[in-house]
Order: sequence, then C-alpha cells, then structure tokens
Amino acid sequence: MPFPIDRPRRLRRTPAIRALVRETHLQPSNFIFPLFVVEGEGIRKEIGAMPGNFQMSIDETVRECALIHSLGIGGVILFGIPKHKDEEASGAFDDEGIVQRAVRAIKREVPGLLVVTDVCNCEYTSHGHCGKIVDGDVDNDITLEWLAASAVSHARAGADIVAPSDMMDGRVAAIRDSLDESGFSHLPIMAYAAKYASSYYGPFREAAESAPQFGDRRTYQMDPANAREAMKEMALDLEEGADILMVKPALAYLDIIRQAYDRFEVPIAAYQVSGEFSQIVAAARLGWIDGERMMMESLTSIKRAGASIILTYFAKDAARLLQ
Ligand code: PBG
Ligand code: ZN
Repeated sequence: MPFPIDRPRRLRRTPAIRALVRETHLQPSNFIFPLFVVEGEGIRKEIGAMPGNFQMSIDETVRECALIHSLGIGGVILFGIPKHKDEEASGAFDDEGIVQRAVRAIKREVPGLLVVTDVCNCEYTSHGHCGKIVDGDVDNDITLEWLAASAVSHARAGADIVAPSDMMDGRVAAIRDSLDESGFSHLPIMAYAAKYASSYYGPFREAAESAPQFGDRRTYQMDPANAREAMKEMALDLEEGADILMVKPALAYLDIIRQAYDRFEVPIAAYQVSGEFSQIVAAARLGWIDGERMMMESLTSIKRAGASIILTYFAKDAARLLQ
C-alpha cells in the first residue's frame, strides 16, 4: 500500500507512539562490566585511554561490585594483572592468583552478582602473548593445558561462567573436559568464538598491561576480512561444548552478530571493546558528538543485531540512564 495510504511517519509522531512500536529494549541485566584487578590495597588507578575505568585492588573491586549489583547490571568479567609475569603464565592458573582471590572476595561480599572470568594467558606472560611461545609463535596444544588449568582454578574459586579469549584451536573442548573431570559439569562456557585481530583493543592493552612484546596476534585471532570463517569458528566452539558464543569487537562486526543469531540456537554475546568505548568518550569530550546518545545508539544496534548479552565499559552509565 504505497503513499498516500501508507504513511510510516504516523507511528513516529509522539514519544508515546514511538515507545509503543519500539522493537529493541536494552536492560541493565543484558550488560557485563569488565574489571581490571591489580595487587595491593586501596588502589584505584584510572586507565589513561579509558576515562572512568580503573585498575582496582581486590578491596576496591569488591566495593565496585556492590555498586554494579545495585544498578541491576547482569554481571562482571574479571581480568587479572599479576605482580609477576613469566614465560609460563604461572599466575594464570595459581589458586592464589589475583583473579582467583578476587572471585572469592566478590562471592563472599556480593554473592548475588554473576562473576565471569576471562580465561587467557596474555596478562600473565612476560612476552604478552596468549600462550606458550615455541619457535617464535604461540604453540596451540601446550597452551590448551594452561587454559584448562586456569578455567578449573577459576571454577574452584567460585566463578559462575568462564570465558576463554585466547583463540587456540580446541580450547573449548579442553576446558569442558577438565571442568567436567573436576566436578564442574554445571559451569557454562562463554566462548570468545569469533574474536578478530583488531585495532579496537588498543586501550585495553594499557588497562591489562598485556601488549605483545613482539609481533602481533594475527596467527591466532581472526582476520577482520572474514565472515564465513567466523561461522566455522562458532560451529566448532558449539560442537566442543560452548554454551554462549561471543563476537568481538561488536559495532564493526554487526553482520557477524546477525549471522550468528540466525544460525545458532544459543545466546549470542558481543564485546563492545575498549577502542569502541574510547572513541565515543574522546569525541564527546571534544564536543563533536553527543556521547550519551551515541552510547545508547551503539548498544541498541548491538542488541538489535542479535546480541542478548553485551560486555561493555558503558554498563554503569547505560544502566543509570535505564533506571
Ligand atoms: C585478551 C583479551 C583482549 C581483550 C579481551 N581479552 C585483548 C587482546 O586480545 O589483545 C580486549 C578487550 C577490549 O579491548 O576491551 N585475550
Ligand atoms: Zn590473551
């Protein structure tokens, strides 16, 4: 029924009509807020390229978690920055490691809050790569043992979900096997299934002190040019036992999120990464854009594309707006 009968503007005339026909709704419970935990006490150190985000010691992290919980945010994902890094990433799977102690403290003080742990080695290796270096590159199968050990130690500490972000082949199966053998068959895996080798991770590497000391991550993270390969990665992770599939970054990969949603009958998560956050905050500071509106528009787009779970540094700001 073309014009003049059909007039789509009728349904945009007032805020009430627009609200009535709105298709996509954000909720604080959709969000997961990333936290960077450091050693020490009373530490709250702002991350230069991520205004409003902090490296926090465990005591401060627990206080932050109480606030996050009170805002109705779905959960947190923890990244640990250990005091000592070594070739073997030994801090990653130490039961007394920084993330393991943080999980126990949060679970003690804010038991209702969902705690996800990022499972990777790059914060724990002296060279900053995500696994064991053999002949100048990350060795896949040795790294699987580290990842499985880390996931089990996170589970023992009380994590609710483990989220491997390393992009080794077979990591979901290795982690699933070890969790099951250790009595954690009930613990879900949220796999960073399609994780691209992206320039959008720049600010995070300062936050997590995890920049690779040589080379880059292109031998394990995906080429941004590839979409069909992302479907293969996701199908493999699903077969290996992933419960939730993640796409990362988010806004530059909405097509991947949409294809994943159409193809796989599991929840899809998307990580609005550090560079996505920082570019909005920076442009807003320059007065070039309306930061609040762009925050909500970007989050809405990610959800509209098919992600029911969004990992985002805007979680607190967006949750406050949604109250
Ligand atoms: C580490 C990891 C990274 C991010 C999450 N886990 C960085 C990387 O792969 O270099 C990026 C998060 C962000 O940029 O906000 N495996
Ligand atoms: Zn890593």
